[in-house]
Amino acid sequence: MIDLRSDTITKPTPEMYEAMVSAPLGDDVFGDDPTVQRLEQACATRLGKEAAMFVPSGTMANLVCILTHCRPGDEVFVSEGAHIYEFESGALSAVGGVIPRVLPSKDGAIEPAGFEAAMRPANMHFPRSRLLCLENTHNNAGGVAIPLEHQKRLCVLAQDQGILVHLDGARIWNAAIALGVSARDLAADADSVSFCFSKGLSAPVGSVVLGTEDFINQARRKRKMLGGGMRQAGVLAAAAQVALDTMIDRLADDHRRAAMLAERLVDLKGILLIRNGVQTNMIFMDISGTGMISREFADRCKRLGLLVNTPGRYRIRLVTNRHIDDHAVEEATQILRKVVTSPADSPAP
Ligand SMILES: Cc1ncc(COP(=O)(O)O)c(C=O)c1O
Repeated sequence: MIDLRSDTITKPTPEMYEAMVSAPLGDDVFGDDPTVQRLEQACATRLGKEAAMFVPSGTMANLVCILTHCRPGDEVFVSEGAHIYEFESGALSAVGGVIPRVLPSKDGAIEPAGFEAAMRPANMHFPRSRLLCLENTHNNAGGVAIPLEHQKRLCVLAQDQGILVHLDGARIWNAAIALGVSARDLAADADSVSFCFSKGLSAPVGSVVLGTEDFINQARRKRKMLGGGMRQAGVLAAAAQVALDTMIDRLADDHRRAAMLAERLVDLKGILLIRNGVQTNMIFMDISGTGMISREFADRCKRLGLLVNTPGRYRIRLVTNRHIDDHAVEEATQILRKVVTSPADSPAP
């Protein structure tokens, strides 16, 4: 099977398995796990933040940050299609009691004028405009890398009004590579940042939250509340450390293969590539022109040996990852070609 559903399907590398077996361990809820501590320190140094905290998932990372920055009734600004808003089970409202405000966005980038217009003055009738959540790369917009200058502009607007900024950088390394900037630059203006080890970086589990020391101390309490305190977590942090040390540069290969695959799909009948160009490791396609809905399209792909993601009725997502080599790109192209050239109402090939 060629699995293009997500970069989250990546398995640990042999070096990760080895590191997991030999990692020195302690009880991280007591603050005793040296492998977790080493990872947190390395992440903080790398992103230029005072402190970091290892968490089980990107979803918990985002929620911990929202809970730490906000109180119930606060307003949180998000982009259209933001992961925090669309794909985290409404946790920000269900658990955090905050009100999300979706801002006009273009290709994942919040429009500064729309943000400015949405800010509320201090007034007891209004919710408190408290937090701006950015996402880079922006998953649902097509793995788009939001330019650093654009991010900076939004951060300045937020800071001028005393609004805090959280950066959901689940794939911050993909963004940094695509933009030719450092992850540290992307993180610089945010009050909190999160990124994931378990996506293109191939670690089995884990994400990290970063911010000031004071912020992370408060965030540790929120993680505990959510049941995210992990005991001998060094067994996971060891794999995450290998991810951080050795797996970042190779993300450029995923980007190159996504571009290569997109190039081969441009002319396929009934398929429209969404957004201009493929910037990182994701391709989104509108398949309405094939006469199939995405579920049917995905089933046909699966029978021919290709797994794809179905984020909408006529939307298909393909994500390159460490297990997709050049040969797999060619095979995936052939399968997709077969799927679109066989009539929709005949039995699947
Ligand atoms: C942008 C973004 N943020 C957060 C997450 C959540 O990560 P997790 O699946 O580890 O909870 C994802 C997952 O795909 C994501 O794409």
